Formats: sequence, C-alpha cells, structure tokens
Amino acid sequence: MIAVVSPNPSIDKLFLVDEVRLGAIHRPQELVVTPGGKGLNVARAARTLGGDVLAIALLAGHAGHWIADGLLEQGVRTDITWATGETRTSLSAADPSSGRPTEFYERGEMPGPDTWEAYVARVSAGAQGARWVPLSGSLPPGVPATASADLVERARAAGARSVVDQHGAALAAALAAAPDVIKVNANEARELTGHAEPRAAVAALHELLAGRRGAQGLGAPVAIVTGGEDGAFLADPEATIWHGTVDAHGPFPTGSGDSFLGALLVGLEETGEDWSGSLALALGAAAANAELAGAALFDPRRARSLAEQARIERV
Ligand SMILES: Nc1ncnc2c1ncn2[C@@H]1O[C@H](COP(=O)(O)OP(=O)(O)OP(=O)(O)O)[C@@H](O)[C@H]1O
Ligand SMILES: [Mg+2]
Repeated sequence: MIAVVSPNPSIDKLFLVDEVRLGAIHRPQELVVTPGGKGLNVARAARTLGGDVLAIALLAGHAGHWIADGLLEQGVRTDITWATGETRTSLSAADPSSGRPTEFYERGEMPGPDTWEAYVARVSAGAQGARWVPLSGSLPPGVPATASADLVERARAAGARSVVDQHGAALAAALAAAPDVIKVNANEARELTGHAEPRAAVAALHELLAGRRGAQGLGAPVAIVTGGEDGAFLADPEATIWHGTVDAHGPFPTGSGDSFLGALLVGLEETGEDWSGSLALALGAAAANAELAGAALFDPRRARSLAEQARIERV
C-alpha cells in the first residue's frame, strides 16, 4: 500500500487559452480541474495505474470537500484531517499547442498547531499499513521545514519506507532524516550537489544518503534525478546507475514528476522491487502525462505501452 502524505493540497484549475495577455479578458477553450498539490497528484497517478493508495490529506472548507469527493470518485482512499479556513486553488493557463503554462500558486492557509499535530498523528497511523510513504511538494505556510524530517521519521517508526520529492529547506530537512528514496529534478539536484550533469548528481546524492543512512544502521538508499525530456537517472541500492528514456514527448509536462513517482511506486509493488523495471513504468506514465492537459491525468494503457518501449541502460 502507498500512503501519500498530502499536507498542502489545492484545487488545480488549468485554462487552455491561445495567449495570456495582461489586462485582457480570456475565454478558455477548455478547463481542466483536478484535486491537486503534488501529494494528491502522486496519489491519483498511482491509482490510475491500479495501485492501492491512501491519501493522507489536510483539507479545509468547501474546496476541501470538493477535493475529498473527487478523490473518492477516482477510487483514492482518503484519511482526512479537517482544518479551519479554505483549501487553496492554483490557477494555470496554457497554450494548447506549446503547452507553456502561466501559473498562479496560492500559498495556502496556516494550520493551527493542534491541527498540524492531529495531521501528523494521521500520517503515523496511515503509515502503519503501508510499504511506501511518499512526501512531495510544499508544507503548508507556517509549518517549519523540520516537519519534513519528522514525517520521514514517523514513516520509519511505522515500518514504512519514505520517498522524498521536495525542494529548498523542506528537502534539506527531509534529507537530514535519511529517507529511503530521494527523487528530485535536475535543478533541485544541482542545488543540492553542485553537479549540473544529472548522472554525476545522482551518484553524489546516493553517496550522501548512503552515508547518512549507514551512520544510523539503515539499509542502502535509492536516488533518482529526472531530467525533463532527457529521461531520468536512478542509482539503485547497489549504487548501480541506470538511465532511462522514452521516445515520446508531449506539450504538458506539468505533473510529469508526480506521475513518474506514483508510477514508480506502483511498479515496485508489481515487480517485487525491480528498480530498473519500475523506472520503465515511471517513464511511461511521465510521458503519457505530458501528452494530455492536466497534472497527473493520463491514460493508463498509454502509460504501459510507452513503458514497454522505454530504453533502460546501465551507465
Ligand atoms: N515534455 C515531456 N514529454 C515527455 N516526457 C516528459 C516531458 N517532460 C518530462 N518528462 C518526463 O517526466 C519526468 C519528470 O519530469 P521533470 O524532470 O520535468 O520533473 P519535475 O520538474 O519534477 O516535474 P513536476 O514537478 O512538474 O511534476 C522526466 O524524467 C521525463 O521522463
Ligand atoms: Mg517535481
């Protein structure tokens, strides 16, 4: 089971318009609205591929109820902590031919200390029955970055394995807690390691994490660096480095990283932890996501057929 930490969800609204002009009225050709925020994207992607998913979400208000209903409709099980206020909405406008988005992300509301404490207690409970606990994206405003370390430690205490895909101070805090898997994009990897080249970055991240985990008597980690259309590098528990690509390129890559992660975890559950095989499913889902408008919205058959065409090489 995959118990997804979703502390800062959002209603994601994507308008497809030819051009965004300041001060003008726009009439979108199409509107795509999804329960979003990175955690819920990962949850929906994993569910689309048939994964057993529990979304542990912090929600508020009418927007929160809309998200809860949407997840239920998509077969994502939920464990919801209700906060006061209103869950945020994030607005994007993209040109349907190039896909290039203009984005407006609300920060979200600050949960009170009691609400946050109740939320992390639900993460501990949800992680009990889980094999994987992904932690993606931002924390709500007012929650200190060190909460990421706490969440990683709670997953471990519950006997689950943590996967971190965050950035900035939250990522640094999560790394200090030595998670089982780190998955970042090439920019985030460069910030962490100083290496612009993703193969060098993934090796450095694996070494860093292996050192931290070894010092605590924990098993070998996995590090992943995704490189947009250039595919992804994965350093497995034996420190073998794999590079994977799919020869398919779409105009809507927003949420491809989240689709990659949700699919990777489903792949690991399906294959009994064949990392290079799961990388193929991750690449298939990420590319299928880029073909359709809307984050973590893709056709599972297309994802699996692209996965079969993926090229995975030891590098
Ligand atoms: N335009 C694209 N077409 C096809 N596949 C893509 C495209 N962009 C990215 N991908 C796939 O998605 C994976 C993740 O993309 P990327 O490195 O951009 O992640 P990201 O920046 O974390 O994305 P996000 O945070 O928006 O989910 C890549 O490794 C690649 O396999
Ligand atoms: Mg990302």
